[in-house]
Amino acid sequence: MKKEFILFGASGDLARQKLYPALFHLFGMGESMRYVGFARSELTAVQFYDIVRASVLATDVEVSPAKLDAFVSAWTYVSGTYDASGIGQIAQVEGDADSIERFFYLSIPSGVGLIMSVVRGLKEHNLINARSAIVLEKPFGLDYASAKNINSFLLEHFTEEQIFRIDHYLAKDLVQDLLALRFANPIFEPVWNGKYIDRMTIEIKETEGIRNRGQYYDQSGAMRDMIQNHALQLLAFSVMNQPKNISAESIHREKIAVLEKIRLWDDGKNAISIGQYVGYRNEPYVAPLSQTETKASLTVCIDTPAWRTVPITITSGKKMDKKTTDITIYFKKRPHSMWDESGCSLDQNVIRVNVAPDNDIRLTLNSEFDLQKKCAFPTELRFGFRDNAFILNEPYENALRDLFAKDQSIFINSKEIALSWKFIDNVLERIALLRAEILETY
Ligand SMILES: NC(=O)c1ccc[n+]([C@@H]2O[C@H](COP(=O)([O-])OP(=O)(O)OC[C@H]3O[C@@H](n4cnc5c(N)ncnc54)[C@H](OP(=O)(O)O)[C@@H]3O)[C@@H](O)[C@H]2O)c1
Repeated sequence: MKKEFILFGASGDLARQKLYPALFHLFGMGESMRYVGFARSELTAVQFYDIVRASVLATDVEVSPAKLDAFVSAWTYVSGTYDASGIGQIAQVEGDADSIERFFYLSIPSGVGLIMSVVRGLKEHNLINARSAIVLEKPFGLDYASAKNINSFLLEHFTEEQIFRIDHYLAKDLVQDLLALRFANPIFEPVWNGKYIDRMTIEIKETEGIRNRGQYYDQSGAMRDMIQNHALQLLAFSVMNQPKNISAESIHREKIAVLEKIRLWDDGKNAISIGQYVGYRNEPYVAPLSQTETKASLTVCIDTPAWRTVPITITSGKKMDKKTTDITIYFKKRPHSMWDESGCSLDQNVIRVNVAPDNDIRLTLNSEFDLQKKCAFPTELRFGFRDNAFILNEPYENALRDLFAKDQSIFINSKEIALSWKFIDNVLERIALLRAEILETY
């Protein structure tokens, strides 16, 4: 069967930084595929090939020149507007045979109007068939109503199984390793609940600012840009019950069960904080008196018997002190120990999954007994089994591989999106009138 990958936004940042390198890695591994790059920019074939070539060379240390030549020449570039008139040119280039399996990747700003315009164009030119798949980047909507709106529209043209909503955090190797850590090791499962866990934190911190994304970011803010999607997905993945099997359906079902029960801690008292970095209002396209948060923190709990006593603090921000993505689980201390009378206090056991930058899992155990002090001291057991970052798969490579296999397990379904937005809409509503008062500068 003929396969085609059609990339909308082929001139853009995501395509250059992530998609061309990931597609290059996968190139030649499966069945052959034709690639179409589509964007409004008027590029000659040579200019486009140079973009693809430079993207691959910028990220890969050892590139086979023959493979790169073959990859580059597998692409066709089409310049046009993101509507029926532009998209008609894809049909002219590629033919519209019903038998082609097409993957439409929308690597374009995710406004509802733009998505609809592309899909209408595809429909009008009979490019969609039962084997097609469409990939949508985050943010999926800007609130519950707009997400529902895009979703209903998409479902007029594709089935749920054909819609791949990407969250590249879920496609990170270390996040997927949580599945193994939690469910392949019987020693962890019995203690993964509020009886043993004291608290949890999830942090996604970036050191850079908003770069030139002011137009989008000033309407969005940290809560919509990072917490609604990446952070809530990491949360759901970290606390979900064991899925019945590794199918997408089972994994989605368990994540949904978490998102349905997410609540603000202590009925919202002191559970929300927001901040804005110094200089944000001088960034291009940002309103001079903008009150958009560039940092947000929420303390939540999962309202189930197993989890409702565990405060989970989620933080995400730009221009933070360090760049890190961490999931940390702090276990309760023993109420009493054989060392109490000697005045020796034991540390908490901690599991820290450092998704980035260290790519490791660390377990803090009181495993050292000091004979002189007659006390137990903590040591850190480090699973640095993937120390060499080069052997980690790039998240976009993982996601594209699963896309081509039509496996939805690391993608997000419409119900997860709806539940996440309902929760975040509610949080934003709560702080709407207090925003100026509670927005800290950092
Ligand atoms: N960049 C990242 O690292 C990253 C990470 C995660 C998710 N995403 C998501 O991936 C998508 C693409 O991101 P990106 O950074 O590649 O975006 P981008 O560079 O701003 O835009 C991609 C392409 O879309 C076209 N475009 C830009 N603004 C447009 C507009 N107003 N109307 C129509 N076309 C427009 C441009 O191509 P032409 O003008 O040539 O048509 C541009 O090259 C977004 O939804 C973003 O949120 C990006």
